[in-house]
Amino acid sequence: MAVEAGRVGAAIRDEFPIFETATYLNSCSQGALSSRVRAAVEAWLAGWDSNGAEWGFWVERNEAFRGDLARLIGAESEDVAVTTSVSQGVSALVSALPLDGERNRIVISEYEFPTIGQIAHAQELRGAEVVHVPPEADGEIPVERFAEAIDERTALVCCTTVSYRSGHRHDVAGIAAAAHEAGALVLADSYQACGAIDLSVATLGADIVTGGTVKYLLGTAGLGFMWLRPELRARLLPTQTGWFADEDIFAMSIADYSPHASARRFDSGTPPVPALYAGVAGLSLVAETGVAAIEGHVSGLVDRLLDGLDELGATVATPREPSARGPLVCVRSTDMEQLVDELAREAIVVSSRDGNVRIALHLYNVDDDVDVLLDALGKRRALLA
Ligand SMILES: Cc1ncc(COP(=O)(O)O)c(C=O)c1O
Repeated sequence: MAVEAGRVGAAIRDEFPIFETATYLNSCSQGALSSRVRAAVEAWLAGWDSNGAEWGFWVERNEAFRGDLARLIGAESEDVAVTTSVSQGVSALVSALPLDGERNRIVISEYEFPTIGQIAHAQELRGAEVVHVPPEADGEIPVERFAEAIDERTALVCCTTVSYRSGHRHDVAGIAAAAHEAGALVLADSYQACGAIDLSVATLGADIVTGGTVKYLLGTAGLGFMWLRPELRARLLPTQTGWFADEDIFAMSIADYSPHASARRFDSGTPPVPALYAGVAGLSLVAETGVAAIEGHVSGLVDRLLDGLDELGATVATPREPSARGPLVCVRSTDMEQLVDELAREAIVVSSRDGNVRIALHLYNVDDDVDVLLDALGKRRALLA
């Protein structure tokens, strides 16, 4: 069943059975399961039962995902790698950077997901130096802090689009301008934004944009993407690779390394078939609804939540301005684990990181979800810092 464009909130909630039993506010960890995604995974199982290896169809699903994802971020499919995780794509990316010469620095924001920091520090074994950019006292990391950390020794700047820890949204375009002036590349890990914020690679300004399907893209684990500015490809030859990155997958040659001319050179091995079925179906819900409609809806819910949190006297770690935040609101807690557990007992699903309770809004949430949460928090003011 197709979803009407712009259908959000109560109009789309029926597709997500979890709302029959829970107030689900945890899309920053995993998006809710839709009946459409369940049906797609069941179709994969049914095909396996009846036909065995549907190899051709699997490869087609891989390309369908590449094309659909490219459309979602305003890109061409030949500029998108299909990855099995952000970690796989970014590891392949850094493997293509010569990091033992004059330009050996990787600048990372303090808000990066662990995998980005760990991959960056792993490059120290290859001669890289890692520079961290910390937040200011108010939690923001302005462009100037990045600009101070970037110079002609910088190879790569990693600035997550929306922080998984605090909900801060970076000024990626501003950071990219500073990086480009010094000749550095910019990687925007957009996992916490893609599907909830209307992103286009043209306006984002980064050279590489990555993410995955577990969260706001409504798919499951094992599938990600990495977009690369097309002119970069020729000079980026990954040494972490696999046969699906080859110029001719089915040549089955063991005699050479001949990466594909397109961004597919950053793909890896056998595609993650079940995740592709789920990913294409989840993405179709996001695309049919339209990310602009989702962003507008989510922003209204975030406003309502922030107003309610103010009334409760809560300390909010996420900025107020719409341009500096995304779908994630983080609230300081005196005991985040206890608060998450207590809310779970009332079937309110949120998560925690860094002393914050994380509340994530998406297309299927409604005002009532926010009010139910605020009411439950109001009964537990002692757990709010
Ligand atoms: C910002 C961000 N990046 C990356 C990841 C996950 O990376 P990977 O796909 O390598 O597991 C997550 C989520 O878990 C995330 O929130």
